[in-house]
Amino acid sequence: MVPKGDQPEAETSGAVLPVPPGGHRLPPLPYPYNALEPYISETQLRIHHDRHHAAYVEGLNTAELALVDERARLDFSLVRYWERELAFNGSGHILHSIYWTNMIPSGGEPTGLVRDCIVSYFGSVRAFREQFFRAALDVEGSGWGVLVWQPQWGRLEILTAWRHEDLTQWGTIPVLVVDTWEHAYYLDYQNRRADYIRAWWNVVNWPDVERRLRLAMAAQVPMQSYGGPAAHGPMPSAPMPGGPPPGGTGLAEPPPGPGIPGVP
Ligand SMILES: [Fe+2]
Repeated sequence: MVPKGDQPEAETSGAVLPVPPGGHRLPPLPYPYNALEPYISETQLRIHHDRHHAAYVEGLNTAELALVDERARLDFSLVRYWERELAFNGSGHILHSIYWTNMIPSGGEPTGLVRDCIVSYFGSVRAFREQFFRAALDVEGSGWGVLVWQPQWGRLEILTAWRHEDLTQWGTIPVLVVDTWEHAYYLDYQNRRADYIRAWWNVVNWPDVERRLRLAMAAQVPMQSYGGPAAHGPMPSAPMPGGPPPGGTGLAEPPPGPGIPGVP
């Protein structure tokens, strides 16, 4: 099988082609290495992307190919190790890929759908920023601050991650992430994580966040059996700005079509 690598072209339309085991590639930065100065230096960005992110891609490919080999031999004696490598490196590759596109040389403020969703759930953009800043600042050790769309609740939420994969919530889709590993900022800010996060706000690519949010809203993770009642009621006071997301929230509507054969 010839590795085709990740498919950024298809990703923009929401249709992702399968990536074969071991076929992940380091995505190029969408801007020059010095584009985020003075907030993030060229040296910092180059090492972070070319070395650290590249290592996660390599680790993910290695884990996937090792599991292919174990399946072929039906020898799963090292499966616990490789599953951990799969989770750590795969999550690292995903989060870093989002992190690069979440930044742009001249950032701004959230507008449109993103702003509406932030205000609907967090109360105000300021309240969101304060919570996101504090959550990212207080990550213990290495991790991330993550704004997610939760298809099961039909709204945004702020999560944090230890390393890349711990403390997450199943089913969520990250739309805005900030890397709080020291390798993301130490050359520029040493141990001053707060200064780094404040500077990072100046390069947030809000149009990219909105693009990701719209794609995430099309996802569904049903919480009830086919045709059954919802596991919880609707949110009492947080109507979705601009109406329900494309495809609905997946909470109470039976799927369209003739249904599943053999299921009443
Ligand atoms: Fe990183």
